[in-house]
Amino acid sequence: MQKRNRPALSRVPFQACLIFAALLFCEIGAQAAARCAQVSAQPDAWVTARVNAFVRAARNAFETDKALPAYEKVLDEITGTIHQCNLAEDHNFISRYRNFLEFIEAAGLERRSDHELGFLVPDKQYFAETRQFVGIPEFLLDPTFLRNVSRYETLGRAKSYLRQLNASRGPDEQLTFFSYKSRHLGTPDNDSSYRRLLIVVPGNAEKGLPDKWVQFGVTDPGKRVRVRNVSVVSAMTAANGTFNAYFKDFYRTYRRDGSIAIEGRWELGEGDDNCTMCHKSGILPIFPVRGTVSAAEQQALLKVNERFRSYGSARFGGYLDERKLGPGLSSASPEDRQRRFGSAFEKTPVAKAMVCSSCHNSERLGALNWPMDKILIKSYVTGGQMPFGQSFRDSDRQQIYSSLIEEYFATDKHNPGVLKSWLLGQAQ
Ligand code: HEC
Ligand code: HEC
Repeated sequence: MQKRNRPALSRVPFQACLIFAALLFCEIGAQAAARCAQVSAQPDAWVTARVNAFVRAARNAFETDKALPAYEKVLDEITGTIHQCNLAEDHNFISRYRNFLEFIEAAGLERRSDHELGFLVPDKQYFAETRQFVGIPEFLLDPTFLRNVSRYETLGRAKSYLRQLNASRGPDEQLTFFSYKSRHLGTPDNDSSYRRLLIVVPGNAEKGLPDKWVQFGVTDPGKRVRVRNVSVVSAMTAANGTFNAYFKDFYRTYRRDGSIAIEGRWELGEGDDNCTMCHKSGILPIFPVRGTVSAAEQQALLKVNERFRSYGSARFGGYLDERKLGPGLSSASPEDRQRRFGSAFEKTPVAKAMVCSSCHNSERLGALNWPMDKILIKSYVTGGQMPFGQSFRDSDRQQIYSSLIEEYFATDKHNPGVLKSWLLGQAQ
């Protein structure tokens, strides 16, 4: 069961850290000096040891959320040493370990209490600057609609309202909507709530208006406590075959008097998530639990996935430099692969399927690199969607998946995987 709000080590508020640092300055200072002397005497040994620890911890955290705190500890420790020993200002170190420094910096952003989204700027600034893109359209805040969309039992009425709106909207302004059950994750406020209503509200690129993908969590039949989350991803297409994706979560508050308020989740102090660890391609296609989209709405499902595919390559408005996270699944060289899986491997159907990075790379759909989500990757491979347009036996699919993961996270000294090779700067 996947959680959107993963359990995490508490993040350190920056100010508390300063006070703490000042109090312990002398003691820590001596320890730090010793450690920094060691790192600068033997940078290779230090980086190699830390990269091994990091990649192993990342793999464990990929496998289970329970291993997340241990991963965060390793990450915090590395970030701490880089900072204490000024490694990011050391020219020799930078020229030798640029990939490592940039990766750790990018992956470490979400560890800061004011960077829960993992973007280059603080969450507050991100939401202030992207406000015009990610607001929920006024007509979806209608009180009756909000009440109806919140429960499975009344979803039909919510849809009637949307159909009514469509009757008076032009052909280019039609809302596309359908309900489905997610095979991937619950809502941030309720790990076991999988029902959704997705509404795609078309924008107008010439007027600078993005398409808005507005997704309501829908309370399961018969449940008393209602689901709060409403998520928005907006897609602002650019001329050069790319688009910018912007993110925001909202929470509904069900008041005693029956009214429903909607405010930003982050603004309500309910935390936030690193959206791009899953949304590598900006918008994610919808791959619902089989049989949960009605026959009447199948067309809408096809239509939204087609729309997503028409957007081109995702960018994140300059708020993330996704290339710093390196290459993704399947981007090993033929020699690496032969060394790892033997020379006969190349001719197997499994090897032929391990070509994800031909489409999932930074120029196209976004590299499938760490941090990434197991449920999503596994479901696309073993569920039969990926690699795109190819068919395989189920047993092959299991093997495709496990080989991809092994190849990405391997830490063998003489045969490092994709992530370790990148971090040690041995990638081409
Ligand atoms: C753990 C992985 C994960 C994280 C983190 C995540 N999402 Fe998603 N999101 C998904 C998946 C998977 C889908 C596709 C529907 C499904 O399978 O549930 C999706 C779909 C959506 C949709 C419907 C439009 C689309 O892209 O298909 C919206 C809107 C959305 N997410 C918003 C957000 C926002 C905002 C954040 C960050 C605050 C976020 N998501 C973080 C996994 C994630
Ligand atoms: C020929 C191009 C191509 C190849 C090769 C390919 N994919 Fe995809 N992938 C796509 C397209 C197109 C989509 C969007 C699918 C849709 O619209 O339903 C997608 C969607 C996905 C998604 C969900 C969106 C996202 O970015 O997270 C995942 C996960 C995924 N692919 C994983 C893989 C894996 C793993 C492999 C290798 C085993 C692979 N793909 C190989 C084209 C490709």
